[in-house]
Amino acid sequence: MKKKGMLITLEGNEGCGKSTQIKLLYQFLKKKQRRVFLTREPGGTRVGDAIREILLDNKNKSLTAVTETLLYMASRAQLVEEIIAPRLAKGEIVLCDRWSDATVAYQGFGGSVDAKWIQSLAEKATQGVKPALSLFLDLPLAVGLRRAVSHKKADRMERKALLFHQRVRQGYRWIARQEPSRFRCLQIVPKDSIEVVHEKIKLEILRVLES
Ligand SMILES: Nc1ncnc2c1ncn2[C@@H]1O[C@H](COP(=O)(O)OP(=O)(O)OP(=O)(O)O)[C@@H](O)[C@H]1O
Ligand SMILES: [Mg+2]
Repeated sequence: MKKKGMLITLEGNEGCGKSTQIKLLYQFLKKKQRRVFLTREPGGTRVGDAIREILLDNKNKSLTAVTETLLYMASRAQLVEEIIAPRLAKGEIVLCDRWSDATVAYQGFGGSVDAKWIQSLAEKATQGVKPALSLFLDLPLAVGLRRAVSHKKADRMERKALLFHQRVRQGYRWIARQEPSRFRCLQIVPKDSIEVVHEKIKLEILRVLES
């Protein structure tokens, strides 16, 4: 039987380990002989990378949350059209570091943009493409933020106050209550090593791949 393509996304506050874990997941699926493609948001296309520059540039302090919403959505629309939809149609697994859930959490809950409006925009921008599974890596905020700033210069989004990040986390938890089978919270404790987190993620992924 032909394998069905599926989109799997990782979410969570800064420094929770998304990029580290998505690379490990990519290697794991490759070893299992799956056709898998790894991408990230915003970016992943020429236009999307240009939008990413605007969004993460510390000089662009005047961007409003609605402008951010539309820019993230524009980058996502381009990524779906050029990369994700064609690969899913070919039966590939596409792994994406963040998705529209991040726009709901950051610009919606963090930036007070109407979360339902963001979700309806996302429906159009993604041509209805939905992740088969989204994993929210829920690491205590302060730990993640410390890890994020220690490994790179804090970018525009990471400089925001702790209160903002708490609202972002509330946003992710709101999505989990709305869509508990797609959007799953993975509790990560500070002492969980990279390998331990990888094992937790593998359990969730295998459940979806084998269903
Ligand atoms: N389980 C872990 N234990 C200790 N350190 C970790 C763990 N996972 C990741 N790290 C380290 O924490 C830092 C942040 O990880 P990573 O870049 O994967 O997070 P992220 O969620 O992608 O962050 P961002 O939102 O900023 O893109 C990195 O230096 C990484 O090596
Ligand atoms: Mg990252």
